[in-house]
Amino acid sequence: MTDYMFPHSWPQERKRLGFMSAMLDPYTLFRMEQLGLTSGWRCLELGAGNGSMSQELCRRVGSSGHVTAIDLDTAFLSEISKPNLEVRTQNVVEADFEQGAYDLIYTRALLHHLPQWQEVLEKMHAALKPGGALLIQEPDIHPAEALEAGDWRDFWIGFRNWSATIGVDHQLGRKVAAHLKGLGLAEVQSHAETINFDGGSGPAQFFSLSMAQIRDKLVGSGHVSPELFERFMKLLDDPNHWGMCISFVTASARKA
Ligand SMILES: C[S@@+](CC[C@H](N)C(=O)[O-])C[C@H]1O[C@@H](n2cnc3c(N)ncnc32)[C@H](O)[C@@H]1O
Repeated sequence: MTDYMFPHSWPQERKRLGFMSAMLDPYTLFRMEQLGLTSGWRCLELGAGNGSMSQELCRRVGSSGHVTAIDLDTAFLSEISKPNLEVRTQNVVEADFEQGAYDLIYTRALLHHLPQWQEVLEKMHAALKPGGALLIQEPDIHPAEALEAGDWRDFWIGFRNWSATIGVDHQLGRKVAAHLKGLGLAEVQSHAETINFDGGSGPAQFFSLSMAQIRDKLVGSGHVSPELFERFMKLLDDPNHWGMCISFVTASARKA
């Protein structure tokens, strides 16, 4: 069993995922539309979380299409009632996917949690129909790495370094496209979306809930001091503070 960092059993996880959906869904959908998402498609979503994108996919593919949504914990997904949605409770590292079955396979903010991400990508590739599309959206902390020294940057670098010690790669976004090309996929493209946000905004609340959930482990690791943690949380609340931290990088490709 994996030690996933943000279990759904945390009382505020539903709220945290809601902020994530509001922040990223429009951008994800834009990339899906560019890949030609249309009625009749068979789609597979890995690590579907609260199912916001699975529901949107169900709507877009219609009654002639089908969506399979996989997650370790399907408590939120199982609340969705859609005739063309199938929910599977599976660990994507261990699960087998149908070979050559899907027009679109999509995942967001999952692979950076998995040291076995390359093996999962290979299984995703094998599960595509010829001509089928992959869309992967993973974080990359390069905006924080590029900032001037100060509490904002120091916090994010401490967070990045602690994440790496538990097998979570906040530099994954920049690596996926090259790997897809190496697997022989065609039409590989990659774009990064960086949000510059103010304290108290939706993205700030997403990060505030995320950090509240992992505070004790992060501070306990020594990578972020308790004082820096408190000052950072105040910045996330401060409407006069604007900051960038993590980019969300899409990599898309088609099976040759
Ligand atoms: C950060 S959340 C992202 C949720 C959703 N993809 C989104 O972007 O809104 C990661 C999701 O992946 C799921 N997950 C983590 N490890 C997994 C694994 N090994 N197999 C399947 N799902 C996993 C978690 O339960 C969680 O729902």
